[in-house]
Amino acid sequence: MFQINENYLKLPGSYLFSTIGKKVNAYAAAHPDAKIIRLGIGDVTQPLAPAIIEALHKAVDEMGAAETFRGYAPDLGYEFLRSTIAEYDYKARGCHVEADEIFISDGAKSDSGNIQEIFGTGNRIAVCDPVYPVYVDSNVMAGRTGTYDPDKETWSDVIYMPCVAENGFAPELPKETPDMIYLCFPNNPTGATITKAQLQEWVDYANKVGAVIIYDAAYEAYISEADVPHSIYECEGARTCAIELRSFSKNAGFTGVRLGFTVVPRDLKCGDVALHGLWARRHGTKFNGAPYIVQRAGEAVYSEAGKAQLKQQVAYYMNNARYILTGLREAGYTVSGGVNAPYIWLKAPKGMTSWEFFDYLLETVHVVGTPGAGFGPSGETYFRLTAFGSYENTVEAVERIKNI
Ligand SMILES: Cc1ncc(COP(=O)(O)O)c(C=O)c1O
Repeated sequence: MFQINENYLKLPGSYLFSTIGKKVNAYAAAHPDAKIIRLGIGDVTQPLAPAIIEALHKAVDEMGAAETFRGYAPDLGYEFLRSTIAEYDYKARGCHVEADEIFISDGAKSDSGNIQEIFGTGNRIAVCDPVYPVYVDSNVMAGRTGTYDPDKETWSDVIYMPCVAENGFAPELPKETPDMIYLCFPNNPTGATITKAQLQEWVDYANKVGAVIIYDAAYEAYISEADVPHSIYECEGARTCAIELRSFSKNAGFTGVRLGFTVVPRDLKCGDVALHGLWARRHGTKFNGAPYIVQRAGEAVYSEAGKAQLKQQVAYYMNNARYILTGLREAGYTVSGGVNAPYIWLKAPKGMTSWEFFDYLLETVHVVGTPGAGFGPSGETYFRLTAFGSYENTVEAVERIKNI
């Protein structure tokens, strides 16, 4: 008789956004006249920029001609994309990252879930609390998290680093020593960031204790303040302790197109073993490459036209963020985020829990957000709204909340 991976049975409930989806669908079915505005899941709404559409069309035509048709992509991704990324995302920012240290993938969700596979199951992970759920759940599946305490909603072997108003939503160095540290800045869900000096402390700490940092920079394009680092490789010593994850979803609207990449520097080693080789082996064995047409679309993100158009797209969402931030502040809410990130993090009012506030908003003004508790125990009394809606919906949602 076959056996299952029993770690899966330890996972509490369903994935956060499935739970929200079910609740919203049930409400919509019972109240067909309610005009529901969704500012919950972090999905973009603006269409792909013209420079990207043009690159897609061109690549599709290439696939239709025998001379230019492409089959399987190279394991690490096409050179044209990897060298473009190395040039614009790294060299232009003074970071040392080589094209062959960049692994093209179908997005940061898969990479952030899969990266743990190259580490031993005995490693202890440290995560921010609240946190993007994939980091924890993928480690639960791998059997790295111990037992679950349903009352506290925590795992016995996970080191939680609370990110709360008192510490400016920035994690503090943990008391217990972790082996793998997940950091995400600009942060989902809090929208908070840390300065380059603060990130340097983490890099120094990781190098000192022999930990690896898995740095998720999916929201890098939303940074507006000067002292906020765009890449962990801006910090000295990051090449020996950090892996960086990037996505094309939020900077270029590729949530449905799918493209991302992971940087594993050759200097990152465990004893004599370079993690680069392990990730290359994993990638080559389990992944057959992002589509050629999508990699060409990714290249167009860095063209002059692409950069200009995407700057406008990010500005559109950040205008929404400002609207939510100022509107809710005027309405008396305690809000943060929304300056270097498309997420606004607010305190649920009147002592409500985050799920109580979720139901309250859905039922009274038909606005959907994300309960902070879904991201970890420190999110219990917080709520996330995203700036990814249309401007019109954002304005209407804020007006409805103000008029409660
Ligand atoms: C922190 C973080 N990392 C990764 C992802 C997933 O990115 P992708 O669409 O590239 O899989 C998200 C998506 O919301 C995210 O918030």
